[in-house]
Amino acid sequence: MGGYSIAISSLKGGVGKTTLALNLGYALAKRGWRTVVVDADPQGGMTYALAGKGTTSGGLVSVPADLDESEVEKVIVRSKNKNFSIIPFGYASVEEVEKWSDTVKDGEFFSKLFSYLSGVFDIVMVDTPPGISGSTVGVLKAVDYVISPLQAEPMAARSVSKMLESIVELRKKGSKARLLAFVINMLAARDKNSLEVALSAWKALPPEVVLEVTIPKHPIFLEASRHGLPVALIGSKEKSSMVGVIFDQLAAIVEERVGLVEVYEHDRTVSLFD
Ligand SMILES: Nc1ncnc2c1ncn2[C@@H]1O[C@H](COP(=O)(O)OP(=O)(O)OP(=O)(O)O)[C@@H](O)[C@H]1O
Ligand SMILES: [Mg+2]
Repeated sequence: MGGYSIAISSLKGGVGKTTLALNLGYALAKRGWRTVVVDADPQGGMTYALAGKGTTSGGLVSVPADLDESEVEKVIVRSKNKNFSIIPFGYASVEEVEKWSDTVKDGEFFSKLFSYLSGVFDIVMVDTPPGISGSTVGVLKAVDYVISPLQAEPMAARSVSKMLESIVELRKKGSKARLLAFVINMLAARDKNSLEVALSAWKALPPEVVLEVTIPKHPIFLEASRHGLPVALIGSKEKSSMVGVIFDQLAAIVEERVGLVEVYEHDRTVSLFD
């Protein structure tokens, strides 16, 4: 069975892509899917904190363009949860990042990368830099699905239509990426502006497009961001349980939409008769 690649992308910065990639990835891993979160953002904050001291300093940026599989294996950082791994971006100078972004934008590198990783993992969750340029284009040309966080603040509605347009454009150019959903993030339910954004997004688009499950604004996410880890791996149990419930719901939606469950059951059924 082959896994699925999902990009977490948005035109705007700071809307919660990294937060969503890590916490949704972790929720899927907890539900039993072998999951790797790939940090394709050169400014990305995913760290080696997972692996502890003494691990390598390589990362996605150090994987050669011709994609030697052993080089990919070297940069996979495994966690205590056997289903959850991260590929950090790694360290690179400004010039190296520019060169790398240019090399990967045609999508070839990511196609090869996802095809390898989806043989080893059920879910390949890819965090991208904001906007549609450089590595984001490369990722979107090669992924199966896109999830886009929508920050609950005025102006958010505009970014929805722009994001949809961008996906349509990329599909015209041969990308197979499909929108999985928009997820409203940083909802402050008692704040009129925040709530209005959510309500107008729901009014404009059906629940299949803008999910009804929302991520609330909560200081625990800031704490987790400082470590570059999912909330579940940093905080106390009580604090992270609220987050756990929400991301578990999101994970269940992802599972259903990409068809993980069916494929898994199909595989099991087949193997029963082998
Ligand atoms: N639901 C939330 N409640 C409170 N803070 C949040 C929430 N989601 C994200 N944040 C915080 O907002 C900041 C931006 O989030 P995040 O880094 O996930 O966004 P991003 O879209 O990946 O940003 P960038 O475009 O710079 O990569 C971080 O400090 C994060 O901790
Ligand atoms: Mg980010």
